[in-house]
Amino acid sequence: MVGVLRAAGEPTRLRVLALLAHEELAVMELSQILGQSQPRVSRHLKLLTEARLVERFPDGAWVFYRLTSDRLGRAFVDQVLDQIAPDDAELNNDLERLEAVRQGRERDAAAYFAQNAPRWDEIRSLYVDEADVEAAILTAAEDRRFARLIDLGTGAGRMLTLLGPLADKAIGLDLSQQMLNIARRQVAEAGLSGCELRHGDIFATGLAAGSGDLVIIHRVLHYLNDPGAALIEAARLVAPGGQLLIVDFAHHDLEFLRQAHQHRRLGFSDDEIARWLQTAGVDALSTTALPPTSTEGLTVKIWSARKAGGAPALSPSALAQRSAA
Ligand SMILES: C[S@@+](CC[C@H](N)C(=O)[O-])C[C@H]1O[C@@H](n2cnc3c(N)ncnc32)[C@H](O)[C@@H]1O
Repeated sequence: MVGVLRAAGEPTRLRVLALLAHEELAVMELSQILGQSQPRVSRHLKLLTEARLVERFPDGAWVFYRLTSDRLGRAFVDQVLDQIAPDDAELNNDLERLEAVRQGRERDAAAYFAQNAPRWDEIRSLYVDEADVEAAILTAAEDRRFARLIDLGTGAGRMLTLLGPLADKAIGLDLSQQMLNIARRQVAEAGLSGCELRHGDIFATGLAAGSGDLVIIHRVLHYLNDPGAALIEAARLVAPGGQLLIVDFAHHDLEFLRQAHQHRRLGFSDDEIARWLQTAGVDALSTTALPPTSTEGLTVKIWSARKAGGAPALSPSALAQRSAA
C-alpha cells in the first residue's frame, strides 16, 4: 500500500492518472500533453505500472497506457481522482492539451478519409482477399434473414451491400460525409431501398438501445481513440438475442500503416477483444481468423458475440416462411 500511495502521490503521476481516466494514451502523446521529455514520462509510467495503477500495452513501435482493469486498483484510482478539485488549473490545462491532441488526430483521420474516399475499395484490397473475408462474414452472420442491421463506420457501404439483402432495414453510420456520399450511391446501385445512411459518431450514435438485430463494425476499430468505448456503444445497440460482429486485424507489426493510413492501433489480440466484450455485456460466440495470402499481409479476424435475452428478431418474411413451414 505504501508503494501504491507513493506511486500516486507525485504531481506528474497524478496528472498522468487524471489523463488516463479520459482515454488510453501513447507515451508520445502523454509527453506532449505534460510538456515533459519521453524518458521522464516513461520513468513515471514505469512506477505507475509497477504499482499496478496503470497497464502498459505495446503496439508495434508505440506503447500505450491505460488505467488498470483490476477492480480494486481502479476503485483506488477513482477515489484519488475524486479528491481533486474540479477547477484545478493544472489538470484543466492538461485536459485542454489532451483535447488539442485529440482534435489533431481527428483532423488527420478526417483528411485521410476525405482524400481516400473515392479509392477506398482499392486500399482495402491491399490487405487480404476480400471475397474470402466477405464469405466468412456471411457465415458468421449465419446467412439468415433478420430485421434490422446497423453498420458502424460504414465507409463506402460495402457491409450494407453485402448484408443489406438479408435485412429488412439497415442503417449505415459514418463521420465522413465523403464516405457517406459514396455509400449512398453504392446502396442505390444495389437497389437496397431499406438502407438509410446517417452522419454520426460511433461513440455517441444517438440510436436507440437494442435497435439492431445485427450490429457490425468492420475495419473501423483500429482508427479509434477508444476502441473499448466504441464496443460498449455497439453492444448497447444490439437487441436481446441479437449479434455483434467485429471485423478487424489481428495484432501485427506493420508500423507504416500508422503514417500512411492513419491506423492508431496495430490490430487487436483475442484477449483484448474478449475483455472489452465482457465489459460491454455481450457473450463471445466465436472467433474466425483469415490469414494473409502473402507474408507481408494482415490477418483479418471476425469476433462474434451475442446479447443474452430473447430470440433475435427475424424479418417478417423469415417469420412468414417459418409459420408456413
Ligand atoms: C476503413 S473505413 C471502413 C469502412 C467500412 N466499414 C468498410 O469495411 O468498407 C473506416 C470508416 O470509419 C469511419 N469512422 C472513423 N471514425 C469514426 C467515428 N468515430 N464514427 C463514425 N465513423 C467513423 C471513417 O470515416 C471511415 O469511413
